[in-house]
Amino acid sequence: MIVTTAQLFKHAYGKYAVGAYNINNAEQAMGLFKGALQSQAPFIIQISKGARKYTDKRMLEAVIRAASEIFPECIFAVHLDHGDEETCYDCIKSGFFSSVMIDASHEPYEQNVAITQRVVAAAHAKGLSVEAELGMLGGVEEDIKVEDGHATLTNPVEAQDFVKKTGCDSLACAIGTSHGAYKFKGHQSLHFEVLREIQKLIPGFPLVMHGSSSVPADEVKRINAAGGQLDDAVGVDVNEYLPAAKLGVTKINIDTDGRLVWTRVHREYFRDHPKDFDFRPPGKIFIEEYAKFIASRNVLLGSAGQLADLRQSLGK
Ligand code: G3H
Ligand code: 13P
Ligand code: ZN
Repeated sequence: MIVTTAQLFKHAYGKYAVGAYNINNAEQAMGLFKGALQSQAPFIIQISKGARKYTDKRMLEAVIRAASEIFPECIFAVHLDHGDEETCYDCIKSGFFSSVMIDASHEPYEQNVAITQRVVAAAHAKGLSVEAELGMLGGVEEDIKVEDGHATLTNPVEAQDFVKKTGCDSLACAIGTSHGAYKFKGHQSLHFEVLREIQKLIPGFPLVMHGSSSVPADEVKRINAAGGQLDDAVGVDVNEYLPAAKLGVTKINIDTDGRLVWTRVHREYFRDHPKDFDFRPPGKIFIEEYAKFIASRNVLLGSAGQLADLRQSLGK
């Protein structure tokens, strides 16, 4: 069942974070729904601009509709990840999305405010909610690359002003994470002091953490043992998910880790079966492995086991 992102956030705030997982194809959708069901967790499906272009924007919508029929127990929202203004309007018009993200964080502050205000007006008119971004994560988002040293943490006072001026429904904050598989040099903790300050200034307001993949060392080791070259890959400490949730982070974005599961399964399969050329055997393994991964993440996010209570609070 598709619900609004606002309904998920209301149930989660201060208690747990909803996992927001990117999908690009049917195998990812199958693994995601299976894992969510196994762990009895609500979730958010994210579609990026790149994912919409990968096959055709209608393809993923059809896949998600089908998955919702195959797994009628699942409760989830559909979200545009890192949208520009034009893509936001397209998704709002499609009638399929629960929420959109307008990412104008690379623009000067006043521009970010103006663009976000326009998207909020269009989205709210159709009952969708809007995630905006303030501060800059490192790494690559869609076609925008933020060079090392140019990432900036979110300023809490600015965040309060931004939310008031734009009327956005949730805010992606830069607290030291970055997109992709190379997040830190050595161990690095998240900037919880930024979250604490924002929560103090705008209590109850849902925050979003991007770049939250943990890049498991064991996964990287297996990929490299099967021909990969992902040296120095390192991610977020999974033990920081729940403390972030308690400080108002209601949505935690995980994409890279799913790609690592795919890469490990396929590299190992074709290494061990050099004469094979059928994509279905590794595809089937991937679906099961991705389901296991999703269930394990939902446990760490605290969203596992929340489905029954959420259903009751929604009156469904
Ligand atoms: O933040 C970016 C997400 O990981 C989506 O990646 O734009 O390559 O689909 P993508
Ligand atoms: P990762 O690259 O850490 O998975 O982050 C994904 C993300 O933030 C999607 O918006
Ligand atoms: Zn992101």
